[in-house]
Amino acid sequence: MQEFTVKPAGTIDPETYELTGRTGRYTKSVSELGGVYRDEQAYAAWRDADPQAEAYRVDEFRPSGDEGDLIYGLSVLHPGRIGREFPVTRGHLHAKSDRAETYHCLAGHGLMLMETVEGDTVVVELRPGQVAHVPPHHIHRSVNVGDTDFVTLFTYPADSGQDYDIISRAQGMHHVVVAAADGGWSLEENPDYVVRH
Ligand SMILES: [Fe+2]
Repeated sequence: MQEFTVKPAGTIDPETYELTGRTGRYTKSVSELGGVYRDEQAYAAWRDADPQAEAYRVDEFRPSGDEGDLIYGLSVLHPGRIGREFPVTRGHLHAKSDRAETYHCLAGHGLMLMETVEGDTVVVELRPGQVAHVPPHHIHRSVNVGDTDFVTLFTYPADSGQDYDIISRAQGMHHVVVAAADGGWSLEENPDYVVRH
């Protein structure tokens, strides 16, 4: 008789966008995002209204950290405005910066805001069914430009790691996503941005 193993699939709850079978979850509260937004007054007002409110959360399935393995998971970024700025994730460069990533949009309307270490900005607009490819050596962050949760399914090499300080070391990303007069979004140059050497 043949033997085989049946493994459960990862399942995404269509109502809550929780990942069953996940190995981990982290949430970012509003109070943990100090320094992320340019409008410090607007950020302080948002934070003080409810410091423990969830700004975004990530469910992940991390089978191992081994080279050649893959991590996948769900990112749920809640909508809002911080002054004129749209909600963002903290953003990072992979510690092994040649590791790429994909983000498949399941719900909402958002952007994958990327930039090279040299400061060249690349943006991919995402609606449900669309996929962004983050090339190697690109800093990346999600931006919710819609009025509902922006939900993405991501996959990246398990040994990538994350460098979360690379953005703050340059006083932010090169461009900021703000609400445009027509109700859409636009990119503005960050006047404090410091070119990396
Ligand atoms: Fe990443």
